[in-house]
Amino acid sequence: MEKFVVEGQYSLNGTVEISGSKNSALPVMAAALLTEEECKIKNVPPLRDIIIMEDILNTLSVKTDFSPKNNVISIKADNISSVSDDGSLTGKIRASFLTAGSLLSRFGYAKISLPGGCSIGTRPIDLHLKGFAKLGAEVSKEFGSIELKAERLKGADIYLDFPSVGATENIIMAAALAEGATTLSNAAMEPEIADLCCFLNKMGAEISGAGTDTIKINGAKTLHGACHSVIPDRIEAGTFMLIGAACGAVTVKNVYPEHLLPVVSKLKELGAEVEIQGENISVKNTGKIKNADIKTLPYPGFPTDMQPQFMSLMTLGSGTGVINETIFENRFLQVGELNRMGADIKTEGSSAIIRGVDRLTGTRVKATDLRAGAALIISALCAEGTTEIEDIYHIERGYCNIDKKLNSIGARIGRL
Ligand code: UD1
Repeated sequence: MEKFVVEGQYSLNGTVEISGSKNSALPVMAAALLTEEECKIKNVPPLRDIIIMEDILNTLSVKTDFSPKNNVISIKADNISSVSDDGSLTGKIRASFLTAGSLLSRFGYAKISLPGGCSIGTRPIDLHLKGFAKLGAEVSKEFGSIELKAERLKGADIYLDFPSVGATENIIMAAALAEGATTLSNAAMEPEIADLCCFLNKMGAEISGAGTDTIKINGAKTLHGACHSVIPDRIEAGTFMLIGAACGAVTVKNVYPEHLLPVVSKLKELGAEVEIQGENISVKNTGKIKNADIKTLPYPGFPTDMQPQFMSLMTLGSGTGVINETIFENRFLQVGELNRMGADIKTEGSSAIIRGVDRLTGTRVKATDLRAGAALIISALCAEGTTEIEDIYHIERGYCNIDKKLNSIGARIGRL
């Protein structure tokens, strides 16, 4: 298995181009199943999760053509041979379950393997299933699969017990071809949901309120092909901004600053210098990071996907900060690895207490999940000596060419 070898304490300076959002591209790919016409999706990052989603579509006999060089994927679902997935692929990415809403809505049937848990939490799908049932689907669970049936889904008023991103997306896709109107209350407000709805509206759907907590969908009879460019990845951008705050001066290019408000605000509170100019954000290390408290929340609150990276930054800050993780129950997997590098972090239930230390030292560590892996890269860049990061396939699920991007601004990262 490949690993990164990072030589620490080089000053990083320069500009990094941010790729398209993985978490937008995945639901948009699933939404392309709602029509038999061709859809063209641009700014798709060439990541492992995207390739797996493409493979999942191919097992349903959907034609795809992904050109990673220009980040465009064409999807044509005109000849779907089966509405049952291949379980061996579905288990690999949780977003595989996003095909359920589209298939059910268009064909009145879907059989999808349970996506399974993952290291950061149990991640159930009860809210997705409750939403499908409200739209009139018969839901049954057996032999590790979910079977969904409905002659034609019927619009309904649905209240989500929690603003789940995936459930909001799946229910919107299911409601897009339902008969009549659906109102989804307490919906997730993440920018990726607004992006999905923008694509669906280009396909002929009638959706309003995306990006707010109340989304209205007027079911259409059919949808047509469309072309769409996905939004920039706010989490990749946030990660490079933290690298600027930790080790030099980094500008992230082509981002939507309004999607990064909680990250910008927390960086300023911690003492980093942040400047926004149009679609670029520059972040500078001031040498004066002062720890503060963080609580993860649904958007527009502080994103759980940035929590491990902020923890890394705070390990070398002055004073004590407390991180309260409210979204996932097991998202402190980076703590043990950071402590092995010399950090002083204690966890108590859903809180982590970070006491700043003077230095970190390189050693051998393991990426346990995507964002924990990103946190280890930040700490490795700041540490004395060399850090070996194992299991980097987790990191490459969500960051395109992270080693190349970092080396282009002065890092020394090799691959073994
Ligand atoms: C998406 C993102 C992920 C991000 C997360 C929260 C994608 C592909 N992934 O994941 O990067 O960390 O949003 O911002 O977009 N829950 C339930 N029942 C459900 C669904 C969710 O209890 O039916 C719980 C989960 O266990 C979790 C919380 O709700 O504790 C948030 O999950 P959710 O918003 O659904 O995250 P994902 O869509 O899986």
